[in-house]
Amino acid sequence: MEVIEQVSIIRDRIKALRCDGKSIGFVPTMGALHEGHLQLLRASAQENDVTVCSIFVNPTQFNNPDDYKHYPRTMEQDAALLKTVGCDILFAPHAEEVYVQQPLLQFSFGPLETVMEGEHRPGHFNGVATIVSKLFHFVQPHRAYFGQKDLQQVAIVKQLVQALSFDVEVVRYPTIREANGLAMSSRNRRLDAAQQHTATILYSALQLAKEQLGKKPVYTIKATVEAYLANVDQVQLEYFEIVHPDTLQPLTDVQPGQEVALCIAAFVGPVRLIDNILVNFNKV
Ligand code: PAF
Repeated sequence: MEVIEQVSIIRDRIKALRCDGKSIGFVPTMGALHEGHLQLLRASAQENDVTVCSIFVNPTQFNNPDDYKHYPRTMEQDAALLKTVGCDILFAPHAEEVYVQQPLLQFSFGPLETVMEGEHRPGHFNGVATIVSKLFHFVQPHRAYFGQKDLQQVAIVKQLVQALSFDVEVVRYPTIREANGLAMSSRNRRLDAAQQHTATILYSALQLAKEQLGKKPVYTIKATVEAYLANVDQVQLEYFEIVHPDTLQPLTDVQPGQEVALCIAAFVGPVRLIDNILVNFNKV
């Protein structure tokens, strides 16, 4: 596996690969790789001639400085893992080169960014859109792979690709979970063993909501989830929403035959976690 840190070098490398007619799969990450990332990389390695993984803890997408400071950084372990899943190039640029100047560009994603993560993490998607645009320019992938755990991020990236006519296919890959249901996330490393156990309640809450879908009105399901988590030690619910899986707009009513996304965000101890499941109402 090649490790490239400089933008000019990745540009040259990609140019040569594209000239040779190679297809390029890309998995952008912030490191602290887990099985969820590895599945994206395996999918990319299977579907493309060359797989590039980027590791860059992007400062502009953290609305909480504490979250940025404590975000796990495990470059050596990550590089070793990447070699096991067929990654060809690790691109790990430096912040000074990525952000030569303070980015002033402002993106707007309309209703997509006024709900859930957009509402609770002001500026977050602007930072994501900025870095993803830059990475797409550097790596020029044919396909880019993202995890469903960040459902709203995938929708934002798809809108970005469409709005700016990037010639990239965005692939969404299902969330990978621990055996106890906890969605894999780099931030899980910040939880102690007891908190990791507590965090499984987010998935239980989603399952509880799923069971009630179609049997109870949306507002009752929301109230049930809120009550379920209300007095759990170390858990602070930020939101639970039942939304359209593409537009991510909250639904007040769910019709048979409709696919919906159940989305949750909560603090477990000091760590903010998100999770979601897609439910086809017919199959409830
Ligand atoms: O999902 C992530 O890890 C990040 O938001 C991404 C897409 C790598 C952009 O920094």
